[in-house]
Amino acid sequence: MPDMAASSARFISFSTSFARRVLTDSCRGLFFLSVFLSFTSSIFLSLYIAYTSKLHIHPGITQVYVNPLLEYSRINTQTTVSVASQQNLNTPSVVSQGPTEVLGNRSNISIGVEEPANVGEIPSPPSVSRGDLDRRLPESIVEVSSTGGNDKYDNVFHDRDLFMEEYKEMKRSLKIYAYPHKKNDPFANVLLPVESEPGGNYASESYFKKALFRSRFLTDNPSEADLFYLPFSIAGLRHDKRVGVGGIQNFIRNYIRNISLSYPYWNRSGGADHFYVACHSVGRSAMEKAVEVKLNAIQVVCSSSYFLAGYVSHKDASIPQIWPRKGKPPTRLPSERENLAFYAGAMNSRVREFLVKVWENDSEISVHHSRLKTPYSEALLGSKYCIHAKGFEVNTARIADALYYGCVPVVLADHYDLPYADILNWNSFSVVVSTMDIPLLKKILQEISYNEYLRLQSNVMRVQQHFQWHHLPVDFDAFHMVMYELWLRRSHARIVLQY
Ligand SMILES: *[C@@H]1O[C@H](CO)[C@@H](O)[C@H](O)[C@H]1NC(C)=O
Ligand SMILES: *[C@@H]1O[C@H](CO)[C@@H](O)[C@H](O)[C@H]1NC(C)=O
Ligand SMILES: *[C@@H]1O[C@H](CO)[C@@H](O)[C@H](O)[C@H]1NC(C)=O
Ligand SMILES: *[C@@H]1O[C@H](CO)[C@@H](O)[C@H](O)[C@H]1NC(C)=O
Ligand SMILES: *[C@@H]1O[C@H](CO)[C@@H](O)[C@H](O)[C@H]1NC(C)=O
Repeated sequence: MPDMAASSARFISFSTSFARRVLTDSCRGLFFLSVFLSFTSSIFLSLYIAYTSKLHIHPGITQVYVNPLLEYSRINTQTTVSVASQQNLNTPSVVSQGPTEVLGNRSNISIGVEEPANVGEIPSPPSVSRGDLDRRLPESIVEVSSTGGNDKYDNVFHDRDLFMEEYKEMKRSLKIYAYPHKKNDPFANVLLPVESEPGGNYASESYFKKALFRSRFLTDNPSEADLFYLPFSIAGLRHDKRVGVGGIQNFIRNYIRNISLSYPYWNRSGGADHFYVACHSVGRSAMEKAVEVKLNAIQVVCSSSYFLAGYVSHKDASIPQIWPRKGKPPTRLPSERENLAFYAGAMNSRVREFLVKVWENDSEISVHHSRLKTPYSEALLGSKYCIHAKGFEVNTARIADALYYGCVPVVLADHYDLPYADILNWNSFSVVVSTMDIPLLKKILQEISYNEYLRLQSNVMRVQQHFQWHHLPVDFDAFHMVMYELWLRRSHARIVLQY
């Protein structure tokens, strides 16, 4: 096809130059003949192209539709998203039927491709005493190196090589501007990082802020920032007597109004290059009076259910809920894990009630409708599979608990946009089961062969590091994974500001 088009173009230009020459020779007959020939041949060629082309371009709307037959033969069951760099835009690897997307100038990103992954050793947390909370302590420049051999065939990442390459680039260039607040600001308690050790179920929010303020990603120069951090703490506002759950919406509205009056950055993008981080689910309704935050900003949240309005997958990002634990995780050999599956927790959802109702008397699936009297850690260490069942929200700390104790998570939480799902291949280290299939749970788990279980378990050990926070951020830990999620969502379009 392109050859035909090219030769037709050559033919037409040949005939016009011929026409010019014959005109100077005053040979009018030949002139008309050549014009006629070129005209008819171009008509013929256009018709030929139109009839044989697979592209149908609608004259009114500039959208490119692709022959469905061609498309379906390419898409497999795994979601495959691929953003080609501008050099290879001619042959996009994923053909979409909707309007063509505007592709940014970032390097190639492909998700869903199985690639051998190879993560470095689990780094041991550095021993840093509290108190040296200087802004941006020098973070060691980390060689993103791969350790040898035995990890070659796992597939923890959708595309490990790409992740490693982009990660390096992120560490080198990502810059975040946090709106500055003084220590004497009346709301310093919610706007500045907490001095105390983050704890409890919603620690991820505080850990992120602490880590960011000590990282080299922070910049004082807003003009070099890729993203802007809205530093309010939802958990802090919830506990602040001046605000409380009922006052959060007004506070956020006023906060956004304040920064959009005092700085030019909010208005130029409608907040699209701004983000906040929250782990408590009240964060979801906190943006009701600041609709631009909900619609445009990047919401990095624990309660990432794409079933609920307020969370927009792809625009927003999921952060894992992690109960903080210190030190290297304890280990237990897969062969010493005698219990098939384990669950314990309050009965605050139908999923949990259903789970317990179906499996309460089972000898292999051990479910408990309240907290255990025996040590929780022992139950997790002694089980092959640890069940995460949706409660009030899709998220709980149970997935990170399971990973910490080397137990393969079983996810019973429909519509949960799992943390780092665009980076990690959850099928390689967890079992995601529809809540409808709770009665089939034992069958599903028993059908997983022992070798397959060993593979899942060894991948659990590989991903552990991504579900841990540290005082001083460590490569590939939860902080860096969240930064990577932000990196993937950074904006490219910028209106240049006139001062
Ligand atoms: C796009 O990428 C190229 C190559 O990395 C770079 O030279 C160029 O400045 C980028 N353009 C924009 C608009 O960022
Ligand atoms: C993008 O992919 C092409 C083809 O696979 C490769 O040649 C090119 O180097 C890639 N670009 C980047 C920035 O990774
Ligand atoms: C907004 O600015 C006003 C005036 O400076 C201040 O009193 C108020 O506390 C600020 N509100 C928020 C939520 O930042
Ligand atoms: C941003 O937009 C708001 C609402 O349109 C306006 O009141 C405000 O002055 C703008 N801020 C700046 C810095 O121009
Ligand atoms: C489990 O045992 C209790 C007590 O024997 C019984 O009431 C209940 O119906 C049993 N549940 C199932 C699912 O068999």
